[in-house]
Amino acid sequence: MSDKIILGIESSCDDTSAAIIKGNKILSNIAASQKIHIEYGGVVPELASRAHQQNMIPVVQKAINQANIQQNQIDAIAFTRGPGLLGSLLVGTSFAKSLSMSLNVPLIEVNHLQAHILAHFIEDANSYPPQFPFLCLTVSGGHTMIVLVKDYFDMEIIGKTIDDAAGEAFDKIGKIFDLDYPAGPIVDRLAKEGNENAFQFNKPKLENYNYSFSGVKTSVLYFIQKQTKENPNFVQENLNDLCASVQKTIVDVLMKKLEKAAKDFNIKQIAIAGGVSANSGLRNAMLRNAQQKGWEIFIPKFEYTTDNAAMIAMVGKLKFDRNEFADLSITATARYDMESDLNTKK
Ligand code: KG4
Ligand code: ZN
Repeated sequence: MSDKIILGIESSCDDTSAAIIKGNKILSNIAASQKIHIEYGGVVPELASRAHQQNMIPVVQKAINQANIQQNQIDAIAFTRGPGLLGSLLVGTSFAKSLSMSLNVPLIEVNHLQAHILAHFIEDANSYPPQFPFLCLTVSGGHTMIVLVKDYFDMEIIGKTIDDAAGEAFDKIGKIFDLDYPAGPIVDRLAKEGNENAFQFNKPKLENYNYSFSGVKTSVLYFIQKQTKENPNFVQENLNDLCASVQKTIVDVLMKKLEKAAKDFNIKQIAIAGGVSANSGLRNAMLRNAQQKGWEIFIPKFEYTTDNAAMIAMVGKLKFDRNEFADLSITATARYDMESDLNTKK
């Protein structure tokens, strides 16, 4: 165990984030999200890279200031190597490499998906971390999977989506309702005032622990097309009920496979991670299972759910303790398998 000070840098998609960790404790966690994508209804990779270029230095500076440390106290720099948008990753990777050279401190590469899961090990006065083995439903804009976490860096994906990710489903269905990007948090907010049983949408019927969300999206699309032919104001007039029903459908699909996995693997330590773990419907479903099935549940603090550098710094700390450093020839990688031993080798 070390009490090292590590700077974490995250730039895999459209959030530029920097955080400082000391031991397992976060001293600062700063993020600049990019509003530019709202008008395009989704992330435009080229614009994301440019915005990272603009945001990176001020965000890192703010993280250092807020942590109340000096630059020369930083013991290592951890950065997101992948998966993500290559142009975005390159900004963070190049910045981390340059800073590590100028400060003469080691560099640590981090797999973004592992980081979402390992965010559960950030020290917090009000909670304690899960014990191995545990199951983690990792749900974000780009990924949806059930991971069997056997150790910090020993993870097995037991099920995943065969098409859209859960966050993508929220965002694409929100777009059908004419909501801004990313629609997930907006659907969540509107759903709170709606009736979740107002409308029924198709649910996938897949074997084992895999997911599919494109059928849900198509089912919503056809339903809305049909209804708006009869009443052009159908969406506006039923927005809360539509959001609540969509949220219930997506959460039901997610939970069904997670419950099956928990039963089959006989595991009661269940965690959620990734942007969609901020969803209140999913959080409530987890709480229900805790009461009814005796699950011990692990729900990340809100600020550690969507993309953030605190989770990158946390992995940095774990790898520092293992002496797992990267050398300066390292490059970003858009596709980065979290199960592969690439994670532990340079
Ligand atoms: O983990 P994340 O920040 O980025 C990726 O690595 O993808 O996840 C972003 C995704 C977006 O699709 C966003 O709509 C979704 O998480 N999201 C939510 C909520 N907050 C964020 N979806 C549903 N309900 C929320 N409260
Ligand atoms: Zn993410």
